[in-house]
Amino acid sequence: MTEVQLRDKKFELFIPEKVIRKEIRRVAKEIAQDMKDLNPFFICVLNGAFIFASDLIKGLDISCEVGFIRLRSYEGTQSSGLIKEIQGFVENVENRHLVIVEDIIDTGHTMSYLLNKLQAGNPASVKIVCMLFKPNALVTNIKPDYCALKIPNDFIVGYGLDYEGLGRNLKNIYKIKS
Ligand code: IMP
Ligand code: MG
Repeated sequence: MTEVQLRDKKFELFIPEKVIRKEIRRVAKEIAQDMKDLNPFFICVLNGAFIFASDLIKGLDISCEVGFIRLRSYEGTQSSGLIKEIQGFVENVENRHLVIVEDIIDTGHTMSYLLNKLQAGNPASVKIVCMLFKPNALVTNIKPDYCALKIPNDFIVGYGLDYEGLGRNLKNIYKIKS
């Protein structure tokens, strides 16, 4: 499929599944190397990161744990800057090595919010791994420690990412057609 229609918008093929998977495997190896003796706690940010987190965690041959938090900031094709916590995180993170697993870093507001929240629980360390990063959209001073792919400032869907709820199941990543 080179083009898809979701509600009122058309999207064109941008990053094929093969490329995404290869970069996720690379990142998984880096994390496994860096954190092999730390029993890291991966915190998957729902909804968007569920497919990325699954691929990433399957690629890690180290001892680790996984938890989930559900946040929301996007309205349509724009980051609202206002983070809503739809489903909280109850696990004790004190003295744990945390890795936030995020689908995409855009303005950085979501990561900023979550970093502050997790730091309050006195973890040993907090790292961020994202599948996609839009460096030109960043308005906060957070940076991913690990990143599969950097992309320009286009709105994208697929591989877990949605437009108004649709498109998460697309195997490739698609970008909006202007
Ligand atoms: P931020 O808080 O602006 O960095 O936005 C982060 C969140 O907005 C991500 O977790 C995504 O769920 C969502 N998001 C950002 N960019 C896109 C996009 O291009 N397509 C779909 N969702 C996006
Ligand atoms: Mg997200």
